Amino acid sequence: MRKTVKLVIATSTVALLLGSMALVPKVASADEATLVTQGKKIAENRKEGNCFACHSYKGAYLPGNVGPPLVNIKTRFPDEAKLRAQIWDATKANPNTMMPPFGRHEILSNKEIDAVTAWVYTL
Ligand code: HEC
Repeated sequence: MRKTVKLVIATSTVALLLGSMALVPKVASADEATLVTQGKKIAENRKEGNCFACHSYKGAYLPGNVGPPLVNIKTRFPDEAKLRAQIWDATKANPNTMMPPFGRHEILSNKEIDAVTAWVYTL
């Protein structure tokens, strides 16, 4: 009896795993879209990213120009990890930068930086 129960559980676990594997591409793209939307919100929140205080980008409201415009990001950063690193700690690439080290100073959490990076990568 016990064995049957275990077997049923094991079989349904495998079925669940297979099911979720089949769904992965669809779920991933929906997640990506959510991440981008969240990232834009965080970036445009004056108390969080406040990126447009220094950067202009398409659709930015009254942006500043201390930093370079955020355009053609995929050309500038073919490696998304480098873009994330720039946002996490801009002082690594340039110790004298005006850009706050969002990750190192815990201005944004790692999750928030993931979202902001996903959004910037669409610019
Ligand atoms: C106080 C001004 C300031 C703020 C706020 C700021 N940045 Fe920057 N950022 C800069 C400056 C200045 C540079 C130029 C690079 C340097 O100084 O080393 C830069 C560079 C960058 C770059 C590299 C651009 C390139 O083409 O090389 C990216 C990407 C970037 N910032 C993203 C962001 C994001 C995303 C935010 C918000 C979470 C943000 N920045 C907030 C000032 C700022």
